[in-house]
Amino acid sequence: MRIILYLCEDFDTTTMIEKIQKLIEEVGALQAKNADEVEALRIKYLSKKGELNALMADFRLVPADMKKEVGMRINELKTLALDKINSLREAVQVAETAGDDVDLTRTPYPVRLGTRHPLTLVRNEIVDIFSRLGFTLAEGPEVEDDWHVYSSMNFADDHPARDMQDTFFVEAHPDIILRSHTSSVQARVMERQQPPIRVICPGRVYRNEAISARAHCFFHQVEGLYIDKNVSFADLKQVLLLFAQEMFGSDTKIRLRPSYFPFTEPSAEMDVSCTICGGKGCSMCKGAGWLEILGCGMVDPAVLEANGIDSTQYTGYAFGMGIERIANLKYQVKDLRLFSENDVRFLDEFESA
Ligand code: DAH
Repeated sequence: MRIILYLCEDFDTTTMIEKIQKLIEEVGALQAKNADEVEALRIKYLSKKGELNALMADFRLVPADMKKEVGMRINELKTLALDKINSLREAVQVAETAGDDVDLTRTPYPVRLGTRHPLTLVRNEIVDIFSRLGFTLAEGPEVEDDWHVYSSMNFADDHPARDMQDTFFVEAHPDIILRSHTSSVQARVMERQQPPIRVICPGRVYRNEAISARAHCFFHQVEGLYIDKNVSFADLKQVLLLFAQEMFGSDTKIRLRPSYFPFTEPSAEMDVSCTICGGKGCSMCKGAGWLEILGCGMVDPAVLEANGIDSTQYTGYAFGMGIERIANLKYQVKDLRLFSENDVRFLDEFESA
């Protein structure tokens, strides 16, 4: 009893009030991620050996004139701790039972990344290769006029490609069409720019074809155009060889077969050694050992003149290839329709490409 009295006289009420105040702040800021953490907090503050009981023990030592004040603060702390721990318990219960979708605005993890479309991958690769050779990107409209698609490209008025069977016409305007090849971008570039011209032009083209595994009413092409002084067929051949080896591997061989296009003279079609059998002959190349991949040639002087370029000073080469065709050879996609159906099972195949 003497001891208690002694302590009573010496008891530091101010320190106790400060301690309660600190605890009030501490409790106000409590957080818990799960039920175990809430229970640990309950034990720390509200159990028999907890902070509140310790304060209650000290409370007996508080001088009589201070009891009211200290008692009120202890009560405040107790109510706060009870409320806080109850609300934390409720919050973790809701989160645990309802799972992640409690907060409907929260980003769901893990975020599933989309994949690039195989045609985009091939397009980018083609553009990349030619960019390294100094070609810059050029684009033109998909809804075009007859001049840029046909007339400026040296198509005679009665050329069969202008036929309704091939070209989509915009009904009210017989002159306005959906471009049937990206060669129209050649004309767009030439009318804006004098040589030296070195452009690569990827884009979508349209043809009035029945949709099947081997044909579609829209597909994609990449056009290349190089005009300068003294550009020769040898330059064209070397650039195309480099392209083929970058695209299909350094062992790839090319061959050029004479052909005809209205806008090039001479014209050629280029084959690459089969990407599957390397030239021995297989089902992919139908035993030939070669696969056709593009058309090319020296820009016809009539095309240069029609587009405002002096054909006595400048020569140029051009080439055009189908992106689907290259993608087929690279990824062995047998059915063209897969490229436009957007079936995620197909698109997911290209996740790591
Ligand atoms: N425009 C041709 C087509 O759609 C492809 C082509 C061939 C483009 C030869 C060219 C070229 O620039 O020189 O079939």
